[in-house]
Amino acid sequence: YVIGVDLGTSAVKLLLVNRVGEVVHEVSKSYPLIQEKSGYSEQDPEEWISQTASGIAELLATFDGNNIDIEGVSFSGQMHGLVLLDEENTVLRNAILWNDTRTTKQCQDIYEKVGKEKFISITKNLALEGFTLPKILWVKENEPSLYAKVKKFVLPKDYLRYRLTGELQMEYSDAAGTSLLDISEKGWSKEICDLLNIDISICPPLVNSHDNVGKITTDFANQTGLAETTSVFAGGADNACGAIGSGILSPGKTFASIGTSGVVLSYEETGDKDYKGKVHYFNHGAPNAYYTMGVTLSAGHSLNWFKNTFAEEEDFDTLLKEVGTVPVGSNGLLFTPYLVGERTPHADATIRASFIGMDSSHKRIDFARAVLEGITFSLNESIAIFRENGKTIDTIYSIGGGSKSEQWLQIQADIFNAKMVKLKSEQGPGMGAAMLAAYGCGWFSSLEECAEEFLEEAEVYEPIQENVKKYAELFEVYKDVYVQTASLN
Ligand code: XUL
Repeated sequence: YVIGVDLGTSAVKLLLVNRVGEVVHEVSKSYPLIQEKSGYSEQDPEEWISQTASGIAELLATFDGNNIDIEGVSFSGQMHGLVLLDEENTVLRNAILWNDTRTTKQCQDIYEKVGKEKFISITKNLALEGFTLPKILWVKENEPSLYAKVKKFVLPKDYLRYRLTGELQMEYSDAAGTSLLDISEKGWSKEICDLLNIDISICPPLVNSHDNVGKITTDFANQTGLAETTSVFAGGADNACGAIGSGILSPGKTFASIGTSGVVLSYEETGDKDYKGKVHYFNHGAPNAYYTMGVTLSAGHSLNWFKNTFAEEEDFDTLLKEVGTVPVGSNGLLFTPYLVGERTPHADATIRASFIGMDSSHKRIDFARAVLEGITFSLNESIAIFRENGKTIDTIYSIGGGSKSEQWLQIQADIFNAKMVKLKSEQGPGMGAAMLAAYGCGWFSSLEECAEEFLEEAEVYEPIQENVKKYAELFEVYKDVYVQTASLN
C-alpha cells in the first residue's frame, strides 16, 4: 500500500491506496482558518501535524497494524502558504495562506524594484497577493524582529514532511508558486532575491516530486503506527497533484476542476512558453514537465452563495437537475462570478460580480443556470488564452464538484467546445500524491504507466454544436461585462 496525504486549506485528507489504484480507506481531519482581520487568512502549522498524525493513526487502526505494509507516503499541499522557521527549524509565526490578501503594497514594490517584465520573464507569473514572495516581504516590513530570526521558509506540505522525516526540502512544483523560482532554469532566482534584499539562504534545497527524501522519524512512527522503514517521497502542489491524479501527463491533456475555486490546467512540455503572466505557468510534479493554469476564484463558491442566499430550502441535486429545463443562455440572463475579485486573466482583486439582463419574466431557476454558465465562461477565458497560444484543447477531464452534475458537464462541454470526460473514481490531488509514492516505490516505470493502471474513464459528454454556437456569441458579451463594469469598482 501507499498513503496519499492531501494537506488542504480546510482539512487533511488521507488515502490508503493499493497496487491497482483502489482507495481502500480514507480519513479526513479538519482544522480552522485564523482570520484576525479582513483579508487575513492564517493557520497554525501545528494543527496540520497533529491532525495528520491522528488521521494516519486512524487510517492504520482500521486494519491490523502488523499486517499492513505501507511502502511509501507522499503529499499534495495547498500552495503558496508561508511557513517561517528559525535556526532550530522551529515555526516562528502562524502560516500566511494562499487566500490571504494583505500584500497588495508588497506586490507593487516587487514590480518597482525588480521591473514587471523581468519579474514575469523569470517567474512566468504576475506578482499576486496570494503567492509567497509578497508574504515574505510583508513579514520583513511589518514584523522585523521576527524576520531577523528567519533561517528558512517552506510551504505547508514541506513543513509537514519535515515533521515526518526530520529533513527539510522544497520540491519544484510548489517552489514554482513562491515567485522566487526561475521556472525554466529550475533554480532559486538570485537576481530577485538580491533586488528585494532577501538572503537567498532562506530558500530550502530543491528536489523532484517523486524523490525519496527520507524515512519516518521514531517519534512520528510512535505517534502513528507507521513503520520507520516507510519511504517518504517529496510530493507536489495540489494543482500539480490534481494533474497527476487525473492523468494530465502528456501534451494535449487538460483538466477543469470546480471546487470552491475553479481551475483549468493544461500540460506543457517546456518551461519557455510566454503567456505574459495572463495565466499561471508552473513546474509540474511529473519530472521535467510544466503546466499552464487559469483560476476562477469564485467557482463553486458562487453556486454556494447563490443557493444559501436564494434557494436555501432546495438541495443541490434538485437545483442542478432543474437547470436542465432552462434553455442555453438562461433566457437572456448573464452572470459574472467575481464575488471576491478575479485571478486569471484579470488579476483584479476589486472587481465584483454582476447579473446582467434581468427581466420581469425571469425565475429563480434562470438565475441558477446563469450562475453555472457564468462560472464556466470565466474558466473559458483562461482556456481561450491557452488556445490563442497554440494549444489544441479538444478533451477536458472533469474533476471536483463540477463533475458531479450532468447538466453542468454538458454546459462545460458546450462552452469549452470540448469533450468532457469524467473519471471513474476521482480523488484528484490525494490520488496524485498516492501515485507519486507508487511511482517512487518503483511499482511503475513512469507516472503515465501508473495512470494507466490507476485511472479509468467513466462518462463522456460531447459538445452539441448548436449550443456551442450560441455560447460563442454569449461569450463575447460575457467578456465585455468585465470591461464595462471594471471602472465601477
Ligand atoms: C493556486 C492556488 C490554489 C491553492 C489552493 O494558485 O492558489 O489553488 O493551491 O490550495
